[in-house]
Amino acid sequence: MPERILVVDDDPGMQAALQEVLAKRGYEGDSAFSAEEALEKTAANSYDLILLDVKLPGISGLEAIPRIMSQGDQGDIIMMTAHGSREMALEAIGKGAYDFFTKPFNLQEMDIVIKRAIERRRLKGEVERLKSRLCKEAGLIEKIIGASRCMKQLKGMIQRIAPLETTVLITGESGTGKELVADLIHSLSPRVSGPFIKINCASIPENLLESELCGHERGAFTGAVSMKEGKFELAHKGTILMDEIGEMPFTLQAKLLRLVEQKQFERLGGKKAISVDVRIIAATNQDLTSLIKEKRFREDLYYRLNVGAIYVPPLRERKDDLPLLIDHFLREINVKLGTNVTAVSREGMELLLNHDWPGNVREFANLLERAVIHCSGRTLSGEEVSMAFQRAPRIEEASARETAISLGETLDEIEKTLIITALRKNKGKQSDAARSLGLNPKNLWKKIRKHHIEKVMEVDEPEE
Ligand SMILES: Nc1ncnc2c1ncn2[C@@H]1O[C@H](COP(=O)(O)OP(=O)(O)OP(=O)(O)O)[C@@H](O)[C@H]1O
Ligand SMILES: [Mg+2]
Repeated sequence: MPERILVVDDDPGMQAALQEVLAKRGYEGDSAFSAEEALEKTAANSYDLILLDVKLPGISGLEAIPRIMSQGDQGDIIMMTAHGSREMALEAIGKGAYDFFTKPFNLQEMDIVIKRAIERRRLKGEVERLKSRLCKEAGLIEKIIGASRCMKQLKGMIQRIAPLETTVLITGESGTGKELVADLIHSLSPRVSGPFIKINCASIPENLLESELCGHERGAFTGAVSMKEGKFELAHKGTILMDEIGEMPFTLQAKLLRLVEQKQFERLGGKKAISVDVRIIAATNQDLTSLIKEKRFREDLYYRLNVGAIYVPPLRERKDDLPLLIDHFLREINVKLGTNVTAVSREGMELLLNHDWPGNVREFANLLERAVIHCSGRTLSGEEVSMAFQRAPRIEEASARETAISLGETLDEIEKTLIITALRKNKGKQSDAARSLGLNPKNLWKKIRKHHIEKVMEVDEPEE
């Protein structure tokens, strides 16, 4: 887009001459024949530069300077003065004009002055854009609550890795915030305007995972009635989060390796190699190095993924963050439940500090929510916190109390209790448990994974 320049001069001959020069230089010129007209125009438009004559019929050019400048997003003002009125030019600069040139004008001098002003305008805009981007990014990173040393390091690491194109492997215990970290890496990367696609490798049955990831051609298998794009294609120009990467079947890992290395794959049933431009972020709460030893995870894939390595520390190692987390989650919970609990008593705080938080931030947020539901005042008492701990669903207890559900459990916890109870009743047979819950077995398995029930009860993924 050409720069817009407003010429303010009451002499029609001068106007015409200047407009001609500007047009020849590729600028878009506009004209005003008095300061009053100029003010009307600057009120309605934004110009990249204003050439202002000193001597004008009504309001003088000098008087007009501050008034034009107060009118929003205007570029610099360059004064045009008659030869020999240097004093006046200096006064204009004192009032805020950027530069001046003398009339009758010397083309070369004028060109330089205009170019400099336009360049300055461009740089100013650039600085503004960078400033606002930095502010926005600083705001985004604060979505991760925590000011402890390890969290500061984590945030620094995210800010360093995000703008790069590297593959990232995020590790950390369940509930530490790995998905949140992945979200931020995408948001702080140049791919932010592209898609962010997530896939949970654990919740999709092994035989469907490949088609989910790579898509399939029509007729690739029974039921493939039309071509379908996979997640990799959908993530083109963006980022893909492969969550629970440790659950990826060994055979598929070879395909993934090729994808990471060459950014190429084929749809199921297709021969054509499809190239995509995606950034891969993988996450897991498993120890991949021990999976490698058990030959369940490819070592070469591990090294390819682990280029950018981010470890999210467990909550028990950063208990000094608890006050900040309390503040953050109480605010969220109050909005959600319409409550007004703003603090935790000293006794309550002690209980929170003494707990080990195996479920990390997720467990912490759930516990606070349970405590708030039962809170009668604005401060959580020790007793209220302690009751919330007692109400936390434990797997051993779930079957003992059947499906007795108490107020104060979060929906997630109720779901978990129901599933454990159903599994117990049906001696771990998932198809029966699913039927009794009115779920299809695949969905039940997804939920089992979601609540990590398979890690504590002996249930395996059902055969197809
Ligand atoms: N540092 C944090 N600040 C604010 N919220 C957090 C933080 N860490 C985690 N959370 C919140 O806790 C919940 C669990 O986090 P998230 O789903 O990212 O964990 P995860 O590490 O992916 O767990 P899993 O391994 O079980 O999938 C989310 O609601 C998330 O927003
Ligand atoms: Mg997760």
